Amino acid sequence: MEVLRFLRFLCEQRRPLPIPTTSDDVSSKVFMVVGSNSGLGLDASVFLARQKLKLLIVTSRDSTKCKQTREAILERTDSGNNEGTAVEAWPLEMNSFDSVRAIVDRLAAREDSQLNVLVANAGVLLDDNFSSTPDGWELTLQVNYLSTALLSLLLLPYLIKSSTADSPSRLAIVSSVAHYSGPKYLKGARTWDRILETVNSKRFAKGAERYCVSKLMSMMFVRELEARLPNPTPVVVCAIDPGMCQTKMLAKSPARSLTFFSRTAEVGSRTLVHAAIGDEARTMHGRYLSSCKVGEESTYIASPEGKEFSRRLWDETIQLLSQIDSRIPEVVEKYLRSV
Ligand SMILES: NC(=O)c1ccc[n+]([C@@H]2O[C@H](COP(=O)([O-])OP(=O)(O)OC[C@H]3O[C@@H](n4cnc5c(N)ncnc54)[C@H](OP(=O)(O)O)[C@@H]3O)[C@@H](O)[C@H]2O)c1
Repeated sequence: MEVLRFLRFLCEQRRPLPIPTTSDDVSSKVFMVVGSNSGLGLDASVFLARQKLKLLIVTSRDSTKCKQTREAILERTDSGNNEGTAVEAWPLEMNSFDSVRAIVDRLAAREDSQLNVLVANAGVLLDDNFSSTPDGWELTLQVNYLSTALLSLLLLPYLIKSSTADSPSRLAIVSSVAHYSGPKYLKGARTWDRILETVNSKRFAKGAERYCVSKLMSMMFVRELEARLPNPTPVVVCAIDPGMCQTKMLAKSPARSLTFFSRTAEVGSRTLVHAAIGDEARTMHGRYLSSCKVGEESTYIASPEGKEFSRRLWDETIQLLSQIDSRIPEVVEKYLRSV
């Protein structure tokens, strides 16, 4: 990140963020927050549960964490009574494509299979050890990018079905200011045979590098999806930068020495809630939201080199995900335009 941008970022961190409000009737809507057992996902889920939604689906890696997460949310919202939001906790392990497919099947099996808002929040920032998932992908790449893309695309038909002209559905993917540092690791990418295989290799030695690249790739995914959705869109898709926040992740991050400038998890979670329920949803479409406003994404994304990378990445991603789940080609064919 350039020095000026970094200083602006630090100043921005100290400014209070508005408590999100909405003029939407959320009482008939179903929300899903992925990775809700801790940090931003937990605080966003508590806030949403207090809004008296029709249903809040929260996800955690396993059934024990699911039970604890649901109890923690109910305890903090008084939703244990019948008046509040119905809260269900579903297991989802993002290092497994099968787990992603299973949660989609679970939604599809519900009588109404309604889903109005998906907040794809789960993410990891790892140390420099290289860890692979059972599916054979580097862990950061799979959790932050590939599984997030698979979940988003498989849930797209349900988001579309649940949207109305007045109230589009929403897909909010949690990205990071770290995406600005992604391009410096992509030098020479034009010569790479395959982007995904290269990013999956030990050439990306450091955990922080892999994190920055994964967050840049998720921003590109948002842009590519936006370009392919019809206009006006039935689903508003956006990327969120929550800022630097006091969560488990920050404690492990190289930025932990800057804790003085960080937001509490509750304040940071407002950026997720804003994307999920904030007014004027259509102004968020395809955009990078920072401090609850449309912000400027890395200039690399709109550069000729960045566009070429992004286009190739999209093609490779769809090709890979189509091998993982046979519904992907149908989603692309039926719901997305070619560009
Ligand atoms: N905190 C910051 O300063 C900051 C800044 C920019 C962006 N972000 C982004 O904000 C999002 C939330 O992070 P956080 O700061 O709230 O950190 P966090 O407290 O570590 O929360 C991360 C969440 O993702 C879940 N998760 C991680 N790996 C998973 C997997 N394989 N399968 C399913 N769930 C998984 C975690 O579950 P477990 O507890 O089971 O691991 C947890 O619920 C992330 O996408 C992160 O990149 C954070």
